[in-house]
Amino acid sequence: MLFFTVLVLPALSAVAAGGVPTYRRIDPVTGQALQCDRCAPGSRLRAHCTSSRGTECVPCGAGLFTEFWNYIPHCLLCDSCSDHQRVVRPCNGTVNTVCECEPGFYWDQHFCKRHTVCKPGHGLKSAGTPHRDTVCELCADGWFADIAEKHAACIPHSACAADQLLLQGSRWHDNVCATCEQLAEKGWVGLLKPVLSGLDIQYNTPIPRLEHLVNRRLKKKLRKRDVLRMANGSSELLNLHIMIEDSHLGRLAGRISHIIHKFQQQCGNMTAMTV
Ligand SMILES: *[C@@H]1O[C@H](CO)[C@@H](O)[C@H](O)[C@H]1NC(C)=O
Ligand SMILES: *[C@@H]1O[C@H](CO)[C@@H](O)[C@H](O)[C@H]1NC(C)=O
Ligand SMILES: *[C@@H]1O[C@H](CO)[C@@H](O)[C@H](O)[C@H]1NC(C)=O
Repeated sequence: MLFFTVLVLPALSAVAAGGVPTYRRIDPVTGQALQCDRCAPGSRLRAHCTSSRGTECVPCGAGLFTEFWNYIPHCLLCDSCSDHQRVVRPCNGTVNTVCECEPGFYWDQHFCKRHTVCKPGHGLKSAGTPHRDTVCELCADGWFADIAEKHAACIPHSACAADQLLLQGSRWHDNVCATCEQLAEKGWVGLLKPVLSGLDIQYNTPIPRLEHLVNRRLKKKLRKRDVLRMANGSSELLNLHIMIEDSHLGRLAGRISHIIHKFQQQCGNMTAMTV
């Protein structure tokens, strides 16, 4: 019982009357065991107490802090926020700086990293926060995520009225619906604008060149002779043409002109080429 009391008493006295915690110290001159007051948060120790006077404390000063009752000789340095971080709460002497990642970034393994942008065909499942990355999901069949919008959720394809489906939707673009009048009025480039912009973003496809290729296919005037004449003997122009024809742009132009041509046939002669 006595043993128990001896052990516990010093611990209790560490939070002495008046609420000021203390620490144990042997006076180096007298050899006496003392209970010195600790320094309050926001201050630090300048001199230990002695048998004749109390502990001396001094405030931390700018850019420094102590969070707890202490007897440390130096205050701690306030953290400064790192790249892509902003101060949520400045260091005030008793509480360290609180930083948070800027909008568009999240905290991961000691760095603020940029939120992931969902890949084409993937929609936003949950938006990123300063503490968590964006979560994306693959769009289900019949759904798409508009890649022109960076943080868009998957949405269902629009329904087209009968005979108005110009282009079947995919995971990254909507169904394109059109009437023959609209095709005549806006032209295929106008109607396919969202798809073409998507191609541009995804594959860096130069829309004017694609437009040019599709139109030429639609006019069915593309002959080797014409190409040579157009190139005007300039090998640079000719090479450019061959390059495009060989590239995905050529295949893409082929597919698009096929789609437009089919739709034009469906419309009869209403939509004699407007482009
Ligand atoms: C520092 O901020 C904390 C939290 O906002 C507060 O509790 C504390 O009193 C402040 N200290 C000073 C010295 O202003
Ligand atoms: C072809 O060359 C002629 C003269 O060299 C020039 O007047 C014409 O503009 C050129 N055409 C093209 C398509 O470059
Ligand atoms: C469509 O074709 C018919 C018969 O070939 C012709 O009489 C009519 O004028 C054409 N309409 C247009 C808008 O070209």
